This record gives sequence, structure tokens and C-alpha cells, in this order.
Amino acid sequence: MAAPILEVEDLGVEFLTDHGWVRVVDGVSFSVGEGETLGLVGESGSGKTVTSLSVMQLIPVPPGRISGGSIRFAGRELVGMSEPQLEDIRGDDIAMVFQESMTSLNPAFTIGEQICEVVRRHRGCSRREARDRAVEVLELVQIPDPRSRLGAFPHEFSGGMRQRAAIAMALACDPKVLIADEPTTALDVTVQAQVLDLLRSLQERFGMAILFVTHNLGVVADLCDRVAVMYAGRIVETATVFDLFESPQHPYTEGLLQAMPQLGERGKRLAAIPGTPPMPWQMPTGCRFHPRCPYAETACTEQDIPLRALAGDRHVRCRRVEELTLEGAQ
Ligand SMILES: Nc1ncnc2c1ncn2[C@@H]1O[C@H](COP(=O)(O)OP(=O)(O)O)[C@@H](O)[C@H]1O
Ligand SMILES: [Mg+2]
Repeated sequence: MAAPILEVEDLGVEFLTDHGWVRVVDGVSFSVGEGETLGLVGESGSGKTVTSLSVMQLIPVPPGRISGGSIRFAGRELVGMSEPQLEDIRGDDIAMVFQESMTSLNPAFTIGEQICEVVRRHRGCSRREARDRAVEVLELVQIPDPRSRLGAFPHEFSGGMRQRAAIAMALACDPKVLIADEPTTALDVTVQAQVLDLLRSLQERFGMAILFVTHNLGVVADLCDRVAVMYAGRIVETATVFDLFESPQHPYTEGLLQAMPQLGERGKRLAAIPGTPPMPWQMPTGCRFHPRCPYAETACTEQDIPLRALAGDRHVRCRRVEELTLEGAQ
């Protein structure tokens, strides 16, 4: 594996709610190598966005707090770093694209103004150089006639174009790490495919590391090198994309694979995982997946299950991992 550029270790994040402090991310560890694309996959509410925002140190405090753990970018600890230092890193070394493009873009400023501002803040270059860079990145994301689009406001763009502009802004300073949190979820299916193609080609060309967050395991198949599967605030499995699809080791991963439409289309039964994920203030004891797991035994409900390292750089949080043979995507 390439040298790690982003290392998250034992991350814990809590929010103060009507139920008191609830831990919504619990002991999450993963790393992303230089130039690698790691998929972070899990159902809605599993803690993917909270994890992404933690990497950017953008958790709202209060009601949130990082209760423990470490997040290192190129060996530098981000947890507890001063705000001015973080501002130097955000948008320059680590950039983020959100699910909703209007979270990345400000409706009151033109696309050109917003990209130029990021470039000038981090590069300290002239207005003219910043404009040239803005045109260059809009071209990279295949926005036609980019120079004339600099003066457009976000609402004058279609959803797909806005997300492209948000990606352009994220790439403006050549980040080492791009965090893309469900970047295509709000888009039409055909536009989704185009934006995914774009991200893939940008990654090939510039080699930035990507943390690609999605609830859709199908989307990671041709974009990601490795996958981390999250369930109820915890990582339950990490593996290469190939290994994960070929031989899932956690029952939750098997369930996600079986619920993928691609498999259904090939004539297989499309099985949604029965039940719903737990609320963070009522996490089940033992394995958090046990109430929905077809393989659960009494011991699974009692013991806390650690994430264990297996051969081939895999990690699995299941006490029955040695006995079970789960069904992959073939
Ligand atoms: N500001 C907040 N206040 C309280 N709870 C929050 C807040 N933000 C997120 N959460 C809770 O954290 C959990 C994880 O949320 P999130 O990371 O957004 O999930 P995902 O991105 O995987 O869908 C959810 O239970 C959510 O309700
Ligand atoms: Mg989310």
C-alpha cells in the first residue's frame, strides 16, 4: 500500500441531544494512501458525514465534540490544531465536496469569485492569475466555455454543473486529499454517471487521494481501490474492492451486496437487509448488527467484538468470521 496521507485512528464523536451525550462515531480507524481512493460505505445515519466533517475539523461544536482519537494528515495531527492552521490546510491540502452542491457554493457570489477567493487565499497570487486558474479548473471539470461562465451565479447552473463547479473549487489548489461526501446522490442517474467518470479521470490525472463517501456499494466498484464499511458508528469491515465483492467477511457487507440492483438485474433475488439500523442512543450490546444478522448467536449479543486484522490487509468485526462462508457478488 502507498504511504498513508490520511490516518484516522480510534475516532470518537459525540453530540449533545435530548438523550444526553450520544456517541455517533465510535472507535473509527482507517487510512488512505497517497493517490488511493477509499470508499466509506454504509446506510444513512451510520456516521459517514460526521466522520468526513471530523477530518475537515468542521464538526459543529456545540452540539458536537470529538471525544477521542487522532486524525493525521501527512503525519500532522489535526485534532486540537488551532483554527488559523486548520484554515491553511482546508481547501488547500484537504478539500471537500458535499452531497448538496449549495453546501459548497455560496449563492451570493459568482462561481468565478468563489474559486478565485480560494486560490488567492492559499496561493497569494494576483487577481489575474487566480482568474486564469479558475478558468483552468472549470475546464478540467468540463464546463463548456469556462471564461464566460466565471460571472454566473450558482443558481444559473443545473444541478450537475453546480456539482462540477464545486469539484472545480475543491481542486483549485491541488489538494492532496479530496473528501467527496455522496457527491452524486442528489443528481439524476445519467448525470451521476458523468460526475463519477469525471472524478475517476481527475484522480487518474492528478493522483490525489480520495475519501469517497456513499451509501451505495455499487458506486464504489469502479471508483475505489479499497472500501471501509460502516455500521452504526463503527467500521465493520475493510478490504480491497476486489476482495470485498468477491468474498465479503462481515454479514452486513454480504447484506449490502445482496441489496445491490446490479445483482438483481442478473436474475438474482434483490434482498434488502431486514430491519433498520439502531438509534445512537440505544445501541445494541455486543455486535451492533446482531438484531439484523442472520448468523447471530447468543454470544454475539453479549461480547464486544473488536475489529480484527485478517490476512491480506483485511479487517473484520465479526466473532464468527472464521466459520462463516458468505456470498460475494461473483
Ligand atoms: N448536529 C447533530 N446533532 C445531533 N446528532 C447528529 C448531528 N449530526 C449528525 N448527528 C447524528 O449522527 C449520526 C450519524 O450521522 P451522519 O454522519 O450524518 O450519517 P451518514 O452520513 O452516514 O448518513 C446520526 O444518528 C445523526 O442523527
Ligand atoms: Mg451523510
